[in-house]
Amino acid sequence: MRIILFTGKGGVGKTTTAAATAIHAAKQGVKTLVISTDPAHSLSDALNVELAPEPTKISDNLWGQEFDVYYSMKKYWGNMRQLMLSIFKWRGVDNVVAEELSVLPGMEEASAFLWIEKYYREDFYDLIVIDSAPTGETLTLLTLPQATKSWLTKAIPGQKTAVKTVGFMVRKTTGVPLDKGYAELENLFDKLENIQKIFTDPKICSIRLVANPERMVIQEAKRAYTYLQLYGYNVDAIIVNRILPNSLTNGTIFANYITSQKKHLQDIEESFTPLPIFKVPHQGEEVFGIDLLKKIGKKIYGKKNPADIFHEENPFEVITTKNGYEVKMKLPFIKQADFTVNKYGDEVVIDVAGRRKNLFLPRFANFLKMDGYSFVHPWLTIKLLKD
Ligand SMILES: Nc1ncnc2c1ncn2[C@@H]1O[C@H](COP(=O)(O)OP(=O)(O)OP(=O)(O)O)[C@@H](O)[C@H]1O
Ligand SMILES: [Mg+2]
Repeated sequence: MRIILFTGKGGVGKTTTAAATAIHAAKQGVKTLVISTDPAHSLSDALNVELAPEPTKISDNLWGQEFDVYYSMKKYWGNMRQLMLSIFKWRGVDNVVAEELSVLPGMEEASAFLWIEKYYREDFYDLIVIDSAPTGETLTLLTLPQATKSWLTKAIPGQKTAVKTVGFMVRKTTGVPLDKGYAELENLFDKLENIQKIFTDPKICSIRLVANPERMVIQEAKRAYTYLQLYGYNVDAIIVNRILPNSLTNGTIFANYITSQKKHLQDIEESFTPLPIFKVPHQGEEVFGIDLLKKIGKKIYGKKNPADIFHEENPFEVITTKNGYEVKMKLPFIKQADFTVNKYGDEVVIDVAGRRKNLFLPRFANFLKMDGYSFVHPWLTIKLLKD
């Protein structure tokens, strides 16, 4: 089974490209499910088909699903909430706060991933296309297994492995019987680990970044790219959507937009190469319904199978050193050694031949001092000092 997850800033065309990808794959005989994990669903609207919290068959080889938090919580989380509540109360957290906290951050989104884990086990679909919420949320969601684990180990005293004994301990200290929820907790940990493995396996999961040729959108795409690399997810393509035709220049109010679009397209080429870049023109109308989506699918993939892995490499690496970190970034666009590097917060600004390029470091680098850099084509290594 393959998984393709679409992410990007709000409104760039994630739902449109995800739906188009699913339709294109299904047409080629790939048994495909397109699932929306964005609580603000628009997949039904894009496809112009009514969807439900369980898969609905749309056409040959094509199913659609709009994940529903309440439906899924009920289906998958059972006594988990009760268990968390007991643990918090036991740890002396105020009742009301405990109630609030017992819905783990990201727990709602995690329910969405439990579906994927289920589909992976059942092995009915060849391809799952995920239309996700805008960048920020997706990233939290993808790091959820690690986050939840560290979070839980903070709530639960002792070693990481103490999960096994916690049911017993809590019962002994508070008299709260936790056996049921505890078994589910163990089960959940197994599933989360499995999900993590599935999503970080480049043979199974590809992330596709969707962007528009606009400054803020590209900034966010770059940041997301750094993060996805950091967490070990394979980004295998970037889709630049809603490109306006050059013919709009002459005397129209779009003249300036076209000029900046050109600049941004060049920036995208330089910053993401050798990642494949698929370009989708603005269609001149809103895109919804199967027929218009088919056109988008064709534009992106042509004769290619959307389920293929288009790219596989890790252009980003963080190494822990004695007094800090070394961040290695692959920058094929730098040809000569004649450039300067400056760091502003989590942003790295590179001046090459009078032009400025910017990249993003992981956020933890924000308050670390840069202690020089080195370049061996195409790798830039930035040294960061811990204080
Ligand atoms: N190539 C295109 N040409 C014209 N209109 C487009 C194109 N791609 C998307 N649109 C339109 O842009 C709007 C936003 O697209 P879409 O809903 O796919 O974005 P999104 O990234 O999923 O948004 P959200 O972040 O809200 O989920 C929709 O009205 C859609 O029809
Ligand atoms: Mg959407």
